[in-house]
Amino acid sequence: MSAHGTTRPLTIADFSAKKQAGEPIVMVTAYDHPSAQIVEEAGVDMVLVGDSAAMTVLGYPSTVPVTVDEMLMLTRAVRRGLTTPLLVGDLPFGSYEASDALAVETAQRFVKEAGCDLVKIERGGTTVDRARAIVAAGIPVIGHIGLTPQTATALGGYRAQGRSAEAALALIDDALALQDAGCSLLVIEAVPAEVTELLMPLMRIPVIGIGAGADADGQVLVLHDLLGIYDGPAAKFVKRYADLRSVAVAGVGEYAREVRSGAYPAAEHGYGMPEGEADRLRELLAKGR
Ligand code: KIV
Repeated sequence: MSAHGTTRPLTIADFSAKKQAGEPIVMVTAYDHPSAQIVEEAGVDMVLVGDSAAMTVLGYPSTVPVTVDEMLMLTRAVRRGLTTPLLVGDLPFGSYEASDALAVETAQRFVKEAGCDLVKIERGGTTVDRARAIVAAGIPVIGHIGLTPQTATALGGYRAQGRSAEAALALIDDALALQDAGCSLLVIEAVPAEVTELLMPLMRIPVIGIGAGADADGQVLVLHDLLGIYDGPAAKFVKRYADLRSVAVAGVGEYAREVRSGAYPAAEHGYGMPEGEADRLRELLAKGR
């Protein structure tokens, strides 16, 4: 039995049960097969192949340029590494906003081609209709409100949202609309803790916070932030639980030093020929074959 208390694949019903029981839900991102195996072994409940992959693993300056095909390739690799946690696909910018038909078509690709259990889409407004259409097509949806990186420019940059009473009320309206549209869960990012506290009594579905205080039903962090792999600027809510980047740079640096000094490879890192074969080879070469 792992840390989430089961060895069978989790279901959305398990998350509702966790909410009712007041048992915090652990969600984290992963972007490839080894990181999927790591988060599975660590016992997380839900894995998001976030479009944060654009920055953390693909080197784009924001989440905006990443394509559906790029996200699908990463998501398939994660699927192959997971058994028990739920897998969430993240529909990238431009792949669902224009129409319900486009949203359903893209969501279906994440389920059919990458084995996702749910898909996540950002914002309230017209996204509420897209969420309703995807749910009607039989695919569970996670809404995402607050700081929505795909539209960060329109929000005035990567900054906390809902800091005035009016802005917070608009966020709460979006949360309720997404819940009414049939979303199974909601992610709420970078909002004051008071807003989450006031939102929670209104929510029947589990709410996962990221920089939204301690009152949400669970928390999500970007794997590369929490492990200290990503070198870019980190948001205020990021806590580093490891410094893998330093460990990795030190390891590769030591390898480079040993190659240059001749310390690597040593005899134990190589292969040998069976007794007498090297002598026979010398003779063959000497005879000109
Ligand atoms: O893309 C992502 O990693 C996300 C999480 C931060 C929620 O959307």
